[in-house]
Amino acid sequence: MEQYAIKGGNPLVGEVEIGGAKNAALAILAASIMTDETVLIENVPDVRDTNVMMQAIESIGGIVERIDRHTVKISGKSIMDLVIEDDFIKKIRASYYLLGALLGKYKKAQVTLPGGCNIGLRPIDQHIKGFRALGADVRIEHGLIIAEAQRLRGSHIYMDVVTVGATIDVMMAAVMAEGQTIIENAAKEPHVVDVANFLNSMGAVVRGAGTDVIRIKGVPRLHGTEYTIIPDQIEAGTFMFAAAVTKGDVTVKNVIPKHLESISAKLNEIGCEVEESDDAVRVVAAKPLTHTHVKTLPYPGFPTDMQPQITVALGLSRGTSIVTESIFENRFKYVDELTRMGASIKVEGNTAIIDGVPRYTGASISAPDLRAGAALVIAGLSAEGTTIIDDIKFIERGYEDFHIKLQTLGAQIEKVNSERELHKFRLKTG
Ligand code: EPZ
Repeated sequence: MEQYAIKGGNPLVGEVEIGGAKNAALAILAASIMTDETVLIENVPDVRDTNVMMQAIESIGGIVERIDRHTVKISGKSIMDLVIEDDFIKKIRASYYLLGALLGKYKKAQVTLPGGCNIGLRPIDQHIKGFRALGADVRIEHGLIIAEAQRLRGSHIYMDVVTVGATIDVMMAAVMAEGQTIIENAAKEPHVVDVANFLNSMGAVVRGAGTDVIRIKGVPRLHGTEYTIIPDQIEAGTFMFAAAVTKGDVTVKNVIPKHLESISAKLNEIGCEVEESDDAVRVVAAKPLTHTHVKTLPYPGFPTDMQPQITVALGLSRGTSIVTESIFENRFKYVDELTRMGASIKVEGNTAIIDGVPRYTGASISAPDLRAGAALVIAGLSAEGTTIIDDIKFIERGYEDFHIKLQTLGAQIEKVNSERELHKFRLKTG
């Protein structure tokens, strides 16, 4: 089983290039089958989740051609099947985007109930509510969600919770419904805007993405396009916190600094310097870190996908910090692992109370999910001694070449696949 072996203690220094946004790519790949013409997508991150999405598209007859590592051409013209029930689709929660895309285009879809990271209950009632409002009949049978409609008609939909997934999914279906759809209490995340821009580049008429009211005028068909996915806000934020935790100096390149404002603000609060330029941010952690409080919120609030990373930093910050998770109810599972590295954290419901310790110590731990796994890697980079992380397949769902990018910043981290390789790593790193 592959593991990361990490010898902590090196401050991360240098420049790192951020890839395309995984969560935008997943929706954009799904939406690309909504036209019979060819779509060219650039800046697709080469991570497990996007690869699973492309396999799912192929499994229903779509043609996916990789032009290079980050560029794909997709054609939905030859789609034969509207049923996505292969086991692999259970691996990614974003499989629900195929429901919106297929329902919009073919007025029918059957998709296996979504899987994904185990971070809470993760219902899909708002997706179903939206599809029903557009006139679809939606039922769940034998683990499949079946949605079908004679015609989809525009509607006025109020989301009961702010949800990225349902906002995007319903937006996709509504793009090819008859008449106008209004989605109220919509999610405002950068990837919601990116998917709307992508759909508009295919001839859709979506207005207001990035605000909490999205207005869509349905069109009968969409056409081919060429589109470049935005940079990944969470990958960028993860490297920014890696700089903070290792007392480093890292320039994170190819980002949209505006998307990182809540992350930069928290880094400032805990004592880091953050310098912004047009498409880069530099994080310098020259002073000891200090405590703060943070609550995860929908965009533009502090992202839940950065909660484990900030907790790792606050675990090393002077004083007592409080982290409140308000999006998912089960996103502190990694705290047990962090405690084994010497952190002093008490979790009560959706709140973590953190007493900063001077340092972590290396341990053998497991990545419980994608972002928590990345956060534990950061903890390992700052720890005294060697940290071994199991279940790195979770991390590979969303971070491309994570250990290689960290190595270029001076981290001592390797992917090992046997006791022998681990032994060699230990000998090499002392
Ligand atoms: C997306 O998940 C992301 N996943 C998650 O990233 C991210 O944590 C999350 O948005 C929040 O930003 C993808 O884009 C593939 P939501 P999603 O719908 O769409 C509740 C990562 O690490 N809700 O915005 O599933 C839900 O339970 C992953 O990259 C309903 O009640 O999240 C949660 O409390 C992990 N009913 C809240 O809304 C619904 O029908 C927000 O969920 C849908 C959601």
